[in-house]
Amino acid sequence: MSAPTPTPQVHHVTHPLVQHKLTLMRNKEASSTTFRTLLGELAMLMAYEVTRDMPVQMVETHTPLETMQSPMIDGKKLVFASILRAGNGMLDGLLRVVPNARVGHVGLYRDPQTLQAVEYYYKMPADMAERDVIAVDPMLATGHSAVAAIDKLKAAGPRSIKFLCLLAAPEGIATLQAAHPDVPIYTAAIDRELNDHGYILPGLGDAGDRIFGTK
Ligand code: URA
Repeated sequence: MSAPTPTPQVHHVTHPLVQHKLTLMRNKEASSTTFRTLLGELAMLMAYEVTRDMPVQMVETHTPLETMQSPMIDGKKLVFASILRAGNGMLDGLLRVVPNARVGHVGLYRDPQTLQAVEYYYKMPADMAERDVIAVDPMLATGHSAVAAIDKLKAAGPRSIKFLCLLAAPEGIATLQAAHPDVPIYTAAIDRELNDHGYILPGLGDAGDRIFGTK
């Protein structure tokens, strides 16, 4: 399958710094330490894009010289929903940019018989209504985990949900958009295709293994 033309719901972040760091991460010789460092830096850069349209409100601020009206982010604190386990590799970078955000986790595994995503862990802030959620997983491969995670997040009734990844396969984008056309996808790259084992080609391998050094 060839890469789809980005639609308004797919934000392809083409900034040179993002692309440069992603290329370094793809290199199979990159150590776990290097991989994790780059992932953190990329998460910070991607955070800048994914939060671009956050609402702000004007607040009275006292500078040493004057009182002024100045913008601050409006509403309840953002939630980063990490899709385990690779999503955790992006949390530090995201939290460096948005230190007051809340963090939730969704744990899913793929049933070897049905190939469907099965939930084994779910923990979000109690008061999800009126919060904006950014679901995070560096790899959007088949899209099944993303769809299952967003099904669950939607049931909590947040104000909005976005999906943030580094690499997306065309198949994963199609699956996620078919199930959740209202959820914008932010990605640094759209790769060629999935292989028979659900890995993204050319990709960067198993993100979880590379982050945590478990290969
Ligand atoms: N998950 C990964 O870590 N890598 C892939 O290529 C696909 C899914």
